[in-house]
Amino acid sequence: MTIDVVILAAGQGTRMKSTLPKVLHHLGGKPLIQHVVNTATTVPNSDITIVTGYASEQIITSVVGDNLRYVYQKEQLGTAHAVKVAISSLTSKGTTLVVYGDVPLISSETLMATLDVVNNNTMGLLTTHNVKPEGYGRVLRDKQGQIYGIVEQKDATLEEQKIQEVNTGVMAIRTDRLQEWLPQIENDNAQNEYYLTDLIAIANREGIIIKSVQPGCLQEVEGINTRIQLSELERFYQYEKAKDLMFNGATLADPRRVEIRGELNCGMDNFIDINAVFVGQVRLGKNVTIGPNCIIIDSSIGDNVEIKANTVIEKSTICNSVSVGPFARVRPGTYLDDNSKIGNFVEVKNTQVGKGSKITHLSYIGDSELGQDVNVGAGTITCNYDGAYKHKTVMGDDSFIGSNSSLVAPLNIGKNATIGAGSTITKDVPDKNLSIARSLQKNILNWVRPKNKK
Ligand code: UD1
Ligand code: CA
Repeated sequence: MTIDVVILAAGQGTRMKSTLPKVLHHLGGKPLIQHVVNTATTVPNSDITIVTGYASEQIITSVVGDNLRYVYQKEQLGTAHAVKVAISSLTSKGTTLVVYGDVPLISSETLMATLDVVNNNTMGLLTTHNVKPEGYGRVLRDKQGQIYGIVEQKDATLEEQKIQEVNTGVMAIRTDRLQEWLPQIENDNAQNEYYLTDLIAIANREGIIIKSVQPGCLQEVEGINTRIQLSELERFYQYEKAKDLMFNGATLADPRRVEIRGELNCGMDNFIDINAVFVGQVRLGKNVTIGPNCIIIDSSIGDNVEIKANTVIEKSTICNSVSVGPFARVRPGTYLDDNSKIGNFVEVKNTQVGKGSKITHLSYIGDSELGQDVNVGAGTITCNYDGAYKHKTVMGDDSFIGSNSSLVAPLNIGKNATIGAGSTITKDVPDKNLSIARSLQKNILNWVRPKNKK
C-alpha cells in the first residue's frame, strides 16, 4: 500500500527575519526540510509530495532526494488548503501522512507509530502534552476520553486554553477520506484560514475513531519559528550526536563543544578535543586524535593518525599513522599516504604525498606528486600557477628539497635528487643529481660599512 507523505513547506517563516525560506535554514549542517525528507524516505512504500509556495524554486533546487514530487501553493490560505493543493496527486487507495517541513527531528519510529494506528475505522494523530501549550492547537476529548476535535489557540475559549494536550501537526488518514473531506473545510475562524485541524471534527462526525500517538521525546515535534528556537534545537541535536560518539567508543574533551554538520563515522578509541567541527561526510579510523579547533570537511582519516590543533582538512584522504598540524591546511584533492607528516603552517593542495614523506614547516605544495621518503625543507614553495594554467611538480622517491626552494612547475625532480637550499629550480633534475640554483656567495675581507656623518 502506498503511503503518501505530504510535507508542508509553503510558508516564508516571517519570524526568522530572513530572505531565506525558513525550511532552508540549517540544523546539523542540513536544511530543516532535508531532515524531514530523509526521515520520510525511511517510511516503506512512501511517495513524497512537498508543498511549496514562498521561494519555491530555491527549495526545489536545494532539497535532495529521489522521486520527490512538488506542488505549488500560490497563496498560503492555511494548512488544509496546502494539503488540498496536493490532493489530486495522491494515491486514493493508500494512506496519507501529513508532516511539516519545519519540524526537523521527527523520527521514523514516530511516523511509523502514527501510521500503524490507521485502519478502516480509525485515523492517527500525533499529540503531546506541553506545560506551555501557547500557540498550539488544543486537543479536545469527550468524557470517555475520545478525541472529537482540535481548537486553535486563537479560537479557543479560556477553558480550552487550559488544555495541555496539543496537536503536533502530524496526522495519518486513509487518502480517499482525506480527498472526500478536505473540500468540506471552511475558513470561518479567527484567522480566516483553512485549518487542517478541522478534519478531526469531520472524522469524528463520520464515526472515525481518532487514535492519538505520542512522540519519543518532545524535541521530535518541536517546530522552528525563530532563530532562538533553531539554536536551542541545534544544541539538543549536537549533544545527541556527541552522546552517540561516546557510546561508540570515542572520548570527547567536552561533549558540548564538538560540532557535527553532516555524518561522522568514527572508529574506537579516538580522542576529540574541544571545538572540533566535522562537516559533510567524515570518516575517522581507530586511535585517532583530533586536537582543539580543527575543522574536517568531507574527508577520510585512517588509523593512528594525529591531527594537531588548528588544522583545516578538506576533501582529502589521510591514510594510517600520519601526523598533520598544528596550523596546517590540507586542501581538496590531497592524499597523505602512511607515515607521512605535514607540519605547521604548511598548505597542501591536490597533492599526493608518498609513504614516509615529510613537509614539516612553512610550505606551499600544490598540484604535486611526492614519492616515498621525500623530505621537503622549510619554506619550500611550488610555483604551480603561471597566471593561466596550473602545472605539476613531481618529486621522486628519497629526494631532498633544501629549505626555501622555489620549484617552478612543470617540474620533475628525480629519485634521490637533492636541491640546494634557496634554489629556484626551473628545469628538471635527473635522479641522484644535486641541483643548486642561486647566486654564488662572495666574501670581501675588511669590509667597511658606511658611517653616519654627524
Ligand atoms: C499548526 C496547527 C496547530 C499545531 C501547530 C503545531 C493548523 C491549523 N494548526 O499551527 O494545531 O499545534 O501547527 O506546530 O494546522 N503551511 C503551508 N501552507 C499554508 C499554511 C501553512 O504550507 O497555507 C505550512 C507552513 O509553512 C508550516 C506548516 O504548514 O510548515 C504549519 O503552518 P503554521 O502556519 O506554522 O501552523 P501553526 O499556526 O503553527
Ligand atoms: Ca508553526
